[in-house]
Parts: sequence; C-alpha cells; structure tokens
Amino acid sequence: MNDSQRKILVTSALPYANGPIHIGHMVEYVQTDIWARFLRSVGHVVYYVCADDTHGTPIMLQARKLGVSPEELIKRTEIEHRDDFRDFNIAFDHYYTTHSSENRYYSEFIYNSLVTNNHIQKRTVRQAYDPEENMFLPDRFIRGTCPRCDVKDQYGDSCESCGATYSPTDLKQPVSAISGATPVLKESDHFFVKLSNFEAMLKEWTGVTGKLQSEVTNKLSEWFTAGLRDWDISRDEPYFGFEIPGETGKYFYVWLDAPIGYMASFKSFCDKSGKDFNEYWGSDSRAELYHFVGKDILYFHTLFWPAMLHSAGFRKPTSVFVHGFLTVDGQKMSKSRGTLVSARTYLDYLDPDYLRYYFATKLNSHVEDLDLNLDDFLQRVNSDLVGKVVNIASRCAGFIAKHFNNQLGAELDDTDLYEEFVRESESIAEYYEAREFSRAMRDIMSFADKANQYLNEQQPWKIAHDEKKRQELHKICTQGINLFRLLIIWLNPVVPGLTSRSESFLRCSISKSGVWQDIRTPLLNHSIGEFFPLLKRIDSTKIESMIEESSNRKEADMSQYLLQDPIGEEISIDEFSKIDLRVAVIMQASLVENADKLLQLTLDVGGETRNVFAGIKSAYSPDELVGRRVVLVANLASRKMRFGISEGMVLAASGIDDDGIFLIEPDTGAEPGMRVR
Ligand code: 2FM
Ligand code: ZN
Repeated sequence: MNDSQRKILVTSALPYANGPIHIGHMVEYVQTDIWARFLRSVGHVVYYVCADDTHGTPIMLQARKLGVSPEELIKRTEIEHRDDFRDFNIAFDHYYTTHSSENRYYSEFIYNSLVTNNHIQKRTVRQAYDPEENMFLPDRFIRGTCPRCDVKDQYGDSCESCGATYSPTDLKQPVSAISGATPVLKESDHFFVKLSNFEAMLKEWTGVTGKLQSEVTNKLSEWFTAGLRDWDISRDEPYFGFEIPGETGKYFYVWLDAPIGYMASFKSFCDKSGKDFNEYWGSDSRAELYHFVGKDILYFHTLFWPAMLHSAGFRKPTSVFVHGFLTVDGQKMSKSRGTLVSARTYLDYLDPDYLRYYFATKLNSHVEDLDLNLDDFLQRVNSDLVGKVVNIASRCAGFIAKHFNNQLGAELDDTDLYEEFVRESESIAEYYEAREFSRAMRDIMSFADKANQYLNEQQPWKIAHDEKKRQELHKICTQGINLFRLLIIWLNPVVPGLTSRSESFLRCSISKSGVWQDIRTPLLNHSIGEFFPLLKRIDSTKIESMIEESSNRKEADMSQYLLQDPIGEEISIDEFSKIDLRVAVIMQASLVENADKLLQLTLDVGGETRNVFAGIKSAYSPDELVGRRVVLVANLASRKMRFGISEGMVLAASGIDDDGIFLIEPDTGAEPGMRVR
C-alpha cells in the first residue's frame, strides 16, 4: 500500500424489505456507487456495503396481509432488491440483511453498553392500543380527523392537508388503520436512550469532522438549540425484530438495529473475505467511514448513530453525506401519473447507464432535490453520451479497421491536446471526490466537444481518400481513439455498461482499480477490436411505455410480493373437518389408455379398496408408485370418468405453472386407514 492510498468504507441507507426499489431510491445508490467507483479508480481501497432493512411493524403487517411469514417476505424481497441493484450495476462489495446473527450480536452489544454506561432509562408511557388486534399502534397506523383543519382520514402524527404535526391523542375520531377499532390508551414500559448525555460528544463530533455539509451543520445546531430529546428504542410485541435481552415481549425498535446493519453487513463481509473488522470499526480506526442518506433520516445518522457507536467504543462516521429527493417532471413521484417507476420497470425498458448518467449531471454535494425531466433526460443522454462521446470512437474506428488492420499508430497527432486532457483529469478528480458530479460531467462533455472539434478540423474522412496521407490519417485516428479512451476513463464511475463495452472495443482494461494512473500513457501500437454500437440512443417510445406501465400497474408492485398462487377463501374449522383425509397405500398403478395425464391407482385404505384416477402421469411412472403411502380425500363424491369411476382423490403439491407434481406422503409408520387431520 502506498502512503496516499486510503481505506474507505461507504454505505447507502438500507432499503426496507417490504417494497420494491424505485428510481427515487436509485438516486442514492447511484450517487454512492459513482463515488465508490471513482475512489477505486484512483487506487484507494474502497468497500461499499449495504443490506435490506427487515424489521418493524410495517413489515410484520405486510407479511400478515400477504399470508406469509415475515421471514418469507424479507427473503423474497431481498432476492428482488439484489437483482435490481445488480442490474443497475451498483457494485456492492457485500449486500446483507439486518435479520442476521451478526446484527443481533452487535445490537445486543451496543444496547448492553448503553445500559452499562447508564444511558438507558425505563419509563412508563401511555400509547394508542388496538383492542381488537391486541397491539400498540405506531402513529402511522392511526387515522382520524385533523385537529387543526378538520380534514378526515389523516395520519396519527401529521396532516397531509394542512401540514400540522401533532400527537395521535390530538386526532379527532381516531381509528386503527389495521382493524378499524377505536384505539384505547394503554400503559407500557419503554426504554429510552438519554441522548442529552451525548450532547458534548456530539457537538465535538459535528465540529471536528469538518466534512459535514453546511445544511447539515445548520440543522444540527437547530436541534442542539431545541434540546436533545430522549429516544425510545423499545417496542412491545407483536413485533418483527430482535427481542431485548433480559426482557419479555420487548423488542428493539427497528431504528436501533438498522444502522447497526451497516456494521453487521461489513462483519459478514470480513468473515467471508478474511478482512479485519476492527481496522474499520475500532475506536482507533484510521479508515474512513461515510454514510450516504436522504435528508429525511438525518436525525438518526447524525445524533442517535454516533451516540450508539460512542457508547460501545466504536469509531464514529467520518461524515454523513445527505441528498435531497427525486422529483419527476417537477413533481413528486406519483403512481397515478406513472412517475413512481420501479427499478425493474425502468430496466425492462431502458439501459441503466442512461439514468446513472442523467443523475450524475444533476448531482452535487448539496442537500438539494433533483428533477428527472423526461424530455431533458432523452436529450441529454442522446446528445452527450451517444452524440458526443460514442461518436468520437465511431468517427475513427472505421478508418483504423479499414486501413490499419485495427492497429493504433505509434504516435499521436497532437500531443499538446492529449496533454491538455491529461491535465484536466486533476480537476475532474477533484469534482468527483467532492461529490460535485454535475460539474465533473459538464467538464467531461466540454472535453468531448473539444475532441469532436479536433476531428472536425482534421477531417479524417477527407484525407482517407488520399493514399499519400495514410500516416497522417493513422495519427489522427489514433489521437481520436485515445481521446475517447480518456473520456471513458473519466466516465467509468458513472456508466459501467458503456465502460465495459468500450473495454471490449479498445481491448484494454478501464474499470480496474487505479486506472486513473494510466491516463498519462496513451494507447499506441495497440490492437483494438471491431467497432460496434457502444450505446444506443434512447427511443422516446420506450419512455412512454415505461410511464404507461407504471401508471397501469398500480397494484403490480405489490403483487410481486404476493404468493404466486394466493391463499383461498377462509373456511371454518367445521368446514375443514368435513373433509375426511385418510392414509392409503398404493397396491397397483397402471397407465390409462388414451389419457395423457392420468394413472389408475388401486388403494388400500385399511381394509377397504378404492379405485382412483390421479393426474400424476407426468411426474411418476406406475412402477415407482406401488407400495407408496399417500393421502386420500376419502369422502369426496365419486366421479364418473371416461375411463371408469374415480373414488376419491390423492393429494399432491404442484406449482401454478405445472412445474412439477409432488405426492404428499405420510411419514413412515402411518398405517392405511389412519385419519389425517
Ligand atoms: O428510511 C429508510 O428507508 C430506512 N430503511 C433506512 C435505514 S438506513 C440505516 F440506518 F439502516
Ligand atoms: Zn390538517
């Protein structure tokens, strides 16, 4: 490791595991990923970790609504999130879950340190309780009439109509959003972190980091002036999360274990890859730690999180980088307008590089909202990436292929121009480092203009006709390809797809760590590949279709979390007990003439013999069935079929797409005729 090489750990906020990733979330992952990729490209050691945020009441209730366990819900969501991030080229070093043993360990560890250091106070609180569901209600799950403007159906903590904030007890005619019952007030013991104990430390941390954005510092001083309020870190059962050690029916509030998920994910990464956890999290760590977050979760990351880390003897973040929200065409994203586009729907229509580039042209180091203007998006991508950057390669590649057998020349045509690009790398790097991506993009595009200008002046297409000017042509095209290469090295953190295609075209590695050092050395006497379209123009109909699909599929985002084959209508236990299920043994099995799917089975049901036609031919041959135990619906009315009478039905599991049939088999020891219940 050289002296200037830094060790850097970066994170993005952990997405909740009860819904899809949408393009609004992508702002943050793209921002973090660009930064991490840039720092790697200049040769630093950078780890980027994240995880699904899996705990809390909304996830528990969502799972209930879908008829699955929370564990099942978070498992499915994690798979989808991973796929979305992978396809957006977000290069995590590790993606994990907060529902992990590592996270439980560190949550308990940090909690115990808070207890030991006297930072926890137990207090009885009165809270809204749903008497039908037997659970305390988070503010968001209470609806009622706003006490200020009298508009109905507002949340328990704030009014969407007049913007008032209040406590749920102020709401008029409150009802539980879960059962519709009127909440009652009920007492319960809660655990509070005495945040004011950390005031001096937090003020110092805020001061010394020197890296917080000015908007963040201002917000923090407002909070300090208002006084730091104690933080309730416990929730009563039923809750999906980690139980508080030594307590019954009490759980850590999801926001306690969520940021600890950063550590837990990194720990899991270290265990897998043999890295040293303490080098990054120990109190004397020399590594840097950065969290990218949205402006809505600043309080958690700049007050609670450093306090927890401090109490437990871990290092604190080097900085927390805060960004604003995404709007589309100047407005909040909305399902009905079709602008709440899920990552998957986007990917179904468009290349991830388009959006990554567009976000980069808009991102800076401030806490500002960012607008995706769909017309501008199309224009920018088509004119910058395709019209300027890729165009340079396509203007030169044909000549290199046709006249020089895909071989670059031994010298550049204009070394001064090349050196001008090399010098520019420094300020582009500074912009990247400072997260001023929009400035970096602006500079890169003005250099793409310079490269095109150079080709306009040299007019290689004109001298290509002149046999005597072959050497000149070679130098000009070598120059053009080399300028293209520098542009791609600069753009590589932003557009990994274009980079990787350019790598195959140029036959050189650009996405590697430390590539920035290669800028000084042009590619000379080097064989390149055949040119192919490195990036297509955005077709406006694709954007239209994407928006249309997003507005039509109002429920689609949800349906991907539903059981593929939804649970049927509820029945009573009495209805269920009418079904007489019996253990049976297959005595004989045979093919049925002219039937594609059926096998004929002769079953012993404990002294009684039954003839059953079962649609299992695709999965079983008659021979393998004889002697097997099955479950028979014994009191199903006999059915007359083309081939004979079927006296009952054997149970088998199957997928909705006919993907396999699996007979249900009672365990060894079950005798024919036994009842199954
Ligand atoms: O606001 C959110 O979406 C949270 N799931 C972010 C958690 S970030 C970190 F603290 F885990
Ligand atoms: Zn109101």
